[in-house]
Amino acid sequence: MSTQSESRIQHYMELMKERSSAFIPSSSIVQIEPGRGSRLVFMTDPNGLAVERYKLLRRKLCAQKPQGGVLLVTSPSPSDGKTVNSINLAWALAEDGHRTCLVDLDLRAPRVAAELAYEPPEDGLVEVLEGTSTILQSMRQISGRPLWVLGNRKGIQSPSHHLTASVLHPFMKELRSMFEWVILDTAPAIPMSDVADVLPHVDGAAIVVRAGKTKRSLIEPALEILGAKAWRVVLNDSFVAGSTYYGYYGYGATRQEKR
Ligand SMILES: Nc1ncnc2c1ncn2[C@@H]1O[C@H](COP(=O)(O)OP(=O)(O)OP(=O)(O)O)[C@@H](O)[C@H]1O
Ligand SMILES: [Mg+2]
Repeated sequence: MSTQSESRIQHYMELMKERSSAFIPSSSIVQIEPGRGSRLVFMTDPNGLAVERYKLLRRKLCAQKPQGGVLLVTSPSPSDGKTVNSINLAWALAEDGHRTCLVDLDLRAPRVAAELAYEPPEDGLVEVLEGTSTILQSMRQISGRPLWVLGNRKGIQSPSHHLTASVLHPFMKELRSMFEWVILDTAPAIPMSDVADVLPHVDGAAIVVRAGKTKRSLIEPALEILGAKAWRVVLNDSFVAGSTYYGYYGYGATRQEKR
């Protein structure tokens, strides 16, 4: 990490301590220890190419929205890499000192907690959306970073009542007041309506496409759902030419740039 990033993180941590000592109990801080096979590249391979690509994606997002915002991460189909890329992007933003919240809004199949290897509280995000818990009670801070996570222990079958405007509007408003960046890991854009339900409440969306896996025929329909909010395409798990490196390759491109 550069000295500039370190001092920025330090600055934010002090600021947060000042602002949040009243509302963020120290028990809400969790330590992350990536196990074997972890995709948390900022911890497992901090000097690797994948980290560089996430930093590039971070730079593009911050140039697009210098004051921060809410970004939805989706993909055309299951297992394209939404969760892994949401986590690493949120990590990249926090590593640069941005106060960031990662939200596991894939309510049917939450995976953020498992990928990060931490245990969310019993009263997690679902309970926040149901109004029986609060963001402050349910979020956990990743130790040593301005990164908070709102996760779930298990999925629910039918999240449509949790994704209505009357639930999401105040929820997003509160998150926006607390954080610079909010990264939403969501369900696939097709065939459920979850992403379409969340879309009106976000500033932009990133769509993850997995090399050799995502069906080409699903990309355009997924982009259609996102419409003008499709900010970035992230090409995941591709072979980087000229190198033996296989892994993440965050490729940021707006639809206009791609064409
Ligand atoms: N670039 C990559 N290299 C290797 N493995 C990867 C890569 N990206 C994702 N994976 C692995 O592929 C699986 C699916 O990834 P992930 O959970 O991020 O996808 P997803 O789109 O969130 O899936 P779901 O639709 O189930 O939520 C996970 O086991 C993850 O560790
Ligand atoms: Mg996922």
